[in-house]
Amino acid sequence: MPIRLLPETLVNRIAAGEVVERPAAAVKELVENALDAGARRIDVTLRDGGKALIQVVDDGGGMTADELSLAVERHATSKLPGDDLLNIHTLGFRGEALPSIGAVSRLTITSRQPGSDSAWALTVEGGAKGRPVPAAHPVGTRIEVRDLFYATPARLKFLKTTRTETDHAVDVVQRLAMAHPEVAFTVADEGRTPLRLPVQTGTLPSGVLGGEDPLLARLGAIMGREFQENALPIDARREGVRLYGHIGLPTLNKNTAAGQYLFVNGRPVRDKLLLGAVRGAYADFLARDRHPLLALFLDIPCEDVDVNVHPAKTEVRFRDQGLVRGLIVGALKHALAGAGHRASTTVGQAALASFRADGARPIPQTAFQWQPQPHAGGGTWPGITRPTAGQVEAARAFQAPVAAWEGPRGEGPTPATAPFALAEAPAYADAAPNPLSSGMAAAVAAMAQTGADDVPDFPLGIARAQVHQTYIVSQTRDGMVIVDQHAAHERLVYERIKQSMVAQGVKRQMLLIPEVVELEEAAAARLAERSDELAELGLCLESFGTGAVVVREIPALLGAKADIKALVTDIADELAELGDQHALKERLEEVCSSMACHGSVRAGRVLTLGEMDALLREMEATPHSGQCNHGRPTYVELKLADIERLFGRR
Ligand SMILES: Nc1ncnc2c1ncn2[C@@H]1O[C@H](COP(=O)(O)OP(=O)(O)OP(=O)(O)O)[C@@H](O)[C@H]1O
Ligand SMILES: [Mg+2]
Repeated sequence: MPIRLLPETLVNRIAAGEVVERPAAAVKELVENALDAGARRIDVTLRDGGKALIQVVDDGGGMTADELSLAVERHATSKLPGDDLLNIHTLGFRGEALPSIGAVSRLTITSRQPGSDSAWALTVEGGAKGRPVPAAHPVGTRIEVRDLFYATPARLKFLKTTRTETDHAVDVVQRLAMAHPEVAFTVADEGRTPLRLPVQTGTLPSGVLGGEDPLLARLGAIMGREFQENALPIDARREGVRLYGHIGLPTLNKNTAAGQYLFVNGRPVRDKLLLGAVRGAYADFLARDRHPLLALFLDIPCEDVDVNVHPAKTEVRFRDQGLVRGLIVGALKHALAGAGHRASTTVGQAALASFRADGARPIPQTAFQWQPQPHAGGGTWPGITRPTAGQVEAARAFQAPVAAWEGPRGEGPTPATAPFALAEAPAYADAAPNPLSSGMAAAVAAMAQTGADDVPDFPLGIARAQVHQTYIVSQTRDGMVIVDQHAAHERLVYERIKQSMVAQGVKRQMLLIPEVVELEEAAAARLAERSDELAELGLCLESFGTGAVVVREIPALLGAKADIKALVTDIADELAELGDQHALKERLEEVCSSMACHGSVRAGRVLTLGEMDALLREMEATPHSGQCNHGRPTYVELKLADIERLFGRR
């Protein structure tokens, strides 16, 4: 076949295939254009998930009739003043979005500039461009995209349901909105308004200045209140690069990375390097399959980042990857350390919710009060299950006098070895039936006995009891805390090991027989080059001819059975990819973590009140002690008000 130059409409359709692969991609381009035009309010309307109509209305700077005509030409842009592709301050820069959309739909643009007495409209149908005609429209721009992909029916077949396409569009607008709390956004789809975001100015509705951080308020509106309440602020700088945003406490985690929003110079990105850095920063607090929630904004000089590496501009390349990674890992770890023993408030809430879920099942008292309701039909009230005869029988058992109460007042064990070491025992041993476990009852009773006033105000409270030789129950100023003693102690030991590693350096262990590891030539050279740094981390190696290194010493922590070849290969890979090595540090942290597990107080060990208080005080003083090494909480806090609610006192 002879070579031929493709006609322009076909070229545009091919380009469109890359730029607008689904309605949400067109929405992204149009909203980005509106933001570039300085809009303060952007309204998106969809019909049939954007397949029938995408309309984006903004109140930005608008276009003249001539600009309108040029805007839909390929490679026409107002955003590249010079010819430098590394000097980009706008979301757009290629001049491709409008012509691409125009090539595969019926596109109408209506626009008016401030100070101009008329608006102009222009239509492009399947790539055929009309002429600008006068129109009526306020200042700003309205873009209507009808019948997207009508000109490329094959693409249409790949689209998902209306709901799915709408969800994607909402997601796209949410991401852009996170970077612009000063702009109001809505997305509407045939009667529904799945997204409505007012301007966040940091001013309270009453007009009083101050109040919330506008960024956090916007993030809360999108990521949820739980995030807003359990986020730590980030603001760090290094060599002209700034990182800011909010990150969730590790105990607020998810099973996917979908709650991680990353931005580079205001541009939403899904970047492997950034995601990897986040994982590295949290590696210490979360199991591998759990992911934190966060929104991080990286502001970096334009010349240090290339945004022109992906058709939808969702990937970027950094000139200095090590700097970016270091900044993120450092800033996040610092913030997480600053959070101290704080665990997410969702932990207490989740505990309460699970109590309530239990309460929804018939509990003994209600069992006896149960009256068949004439209108209850077959007993199928939503959420209410009628107790079975067996359950009623079981419930009756609760009514038997509690004989097993073993407080120190009676013949039970003495305080030192008691399953719960309680100073004074309440005198209700033979009082009303109590469905709570006896240890829990003791703790609650102790709380009732001690006036809140004479409790020193420690965040984790004063130890009152140990229950089931596993949990410490303590009293705080306005509630109670239940600590998982093993998880908490494990975390403390881990932090101690890490601290001593930092203070005294990593102990090395000489190999009886030095191990030769064969690698690619470049990888071996890279390792040899960084041998000083590696030695500081306890790994002593040197080059061994071409394409091999010889390892003489390894970190003692790794033990005699360490897989040296795997370790060295991993480090070499990381050096190649990131110019920095983390594998060794991560491996050391893993070892610390399992050492901590062995060295810590096991569940089942009896603790004295003094030991319990010591543990609580150490938790308060130790960073990261609010979660165990797998991101599970080490304690649960219940506020008095919540407990009262549990018992129906509120
Ligand atoms: N909503 C708008 N308000 C004002 N001007 C706009 C608007 N949308 C587009 N324009 C103008 O039309 C030009 C072309 O837009 P288009 O999106 O095709 O390219 P771009 O934004 O410059 O680059 P990219 O292809 O990377 O998005 C823009 O450079 C801008 O001058
Ligand atoms: Mg654009």
